[in-house]
Amino acid sequence: MQLTQLTIKNFRNLKDAQIIPVQGINLIVGNNASGKTSLLEAIYYLSHIRSFRTQSVIDLIHRQTPYLQLVANIESSEKNIIPLGIRRSRNKSEIRINKKNVKRVSDITAQFPILAIHPDSYKLISGSPSFRRQYLDWGVFHVEHAFFQSWKRFKKALAQRNASLKSKQKTDVCQLWNQEIHDSAHRIDHLRREYFASLMPYFNQLSEQFFIKDKIDIEYKRGWHEDLDLLSLLQDNLIKERMKGYTQYGPHRADIIIKVNGQSAQTSISRGQQKLLVALMRLAQAMQFTESMKKACVLLYDDLPAELDANHRKLILSVLSKMNIQLFITAIDVDQIDLSAWDINKMFHVEHGRVNSE
Ligand SMILES: Nc1ncnc2c1ncn2[C@@H]1O[C@H](COP(=O)(O)OP(=O)(O)OP(=O)(O)O)[C@@H](O)[C@H]1O
Ligand SMILES: [Mg+2]
Repeated sequence: MQLTQLTIKNFRNLKDAQIIPVQGINLIVGNNASGKTSLLEAIYYLSHIRSFRTQSVIDLIHRQTPYLQLVANIESSEKNIIPLGIRRSRNKSEIRINKKNVKRVSDITAQFPILAIHPDSYKLISGSPSFRRQYLDWGVFHVEHAFFQSWKRFKKALAQRNASLKSKQKTDVCQLWNQEIHDSAHRIDHLRREYFASLMPYFNQLSEQFFIKDKIDIEYKRGWHEDLDLLSLLQDNLIKERMKGYTQYGPHRADIIIKVNGQSAQTSISRGQQKLLVALMRLAQAMQFTESMKKACVLLYDDLPAELDANHRKLILSVLSKMNIQLFITAIDVDQIDLSAWDINKMFHVEHGRVNSE
């Protein structure tokens, strides 16, 4: 899977840009505020229909223009070209894959797996559990196709239960969704657990290579006690939950606990170490994906030189060069990234929202 062509209109400061990337490494260079992150953001948007920087589409549409547009060609692992088109205005979204309109973001996400490492990624460690659930579910979604259906069923049942708790319905009404929550929760937990177990060997191998003196432990928590039955928990806590107005136990409360030398990574390591750890978590995910799915994914790495010191930068680049992925890296100067390990490489210069290749 790789991006072979992208035409951008009115995305942030990229009014009109086109890139023809290569399968290996694509290095995007330019001064501050030239539009490097915006270019990565546009690629990310193709897969997620949201940004890694903002929740609001208004931030993304070039100022004083009515809509943004992205037109791309993606080459599948079977070498088929899949045309992709997205047009977003403030209140309307049109997505076309293979010349057909699609409604669901999941249709596009499934076609085009993209991972990103960017300056805000440290939130995967220091932010709320929702960041870590998103991390886990990216992988479960792409690797285990049954996950999406179970997740949809769970979310629907949870929303109905929470609505009845909030409006203080009678207890037997609130209980109506317990069984559905229990059943879909178990399927979600099972798929997450399996994915997590298959991810860990990749992560452990990387963390041993980068954190030589430290012991990193990473553990999946399912969102309710390991030794308690979810159905009983839902029944036994009903009165309390009716007072709170929401459901306290279930996979919507899952988390990943990361410890460095026995202490929480959230509070015990430096910001630089957090960023490195996050990069390794993402790389592990890309490795697991390419090996289990037997196809490449796309990795976006924003500001790599600014994120890591020279030693770690060299090590990360060496790991990246051995991976079967299409890579987009941004940097301010060309000489911050050594491209010599890649047979296939291409450089893009961004200047005031214009993109040129060499
Ligand atoms: N909706 C928008 N319309 C027009 N310009 C925008 C919009 N949103 C952001 N910009 C501008 O786009 C420019 C490029 O921002 P971007 O974050 O892509 O730069 P960058 O090259 O990554 O810079 P840095 O090296 O500082 O990270 C900035 O000047 C920003 O103010
Ligand atoms: Mg930037």
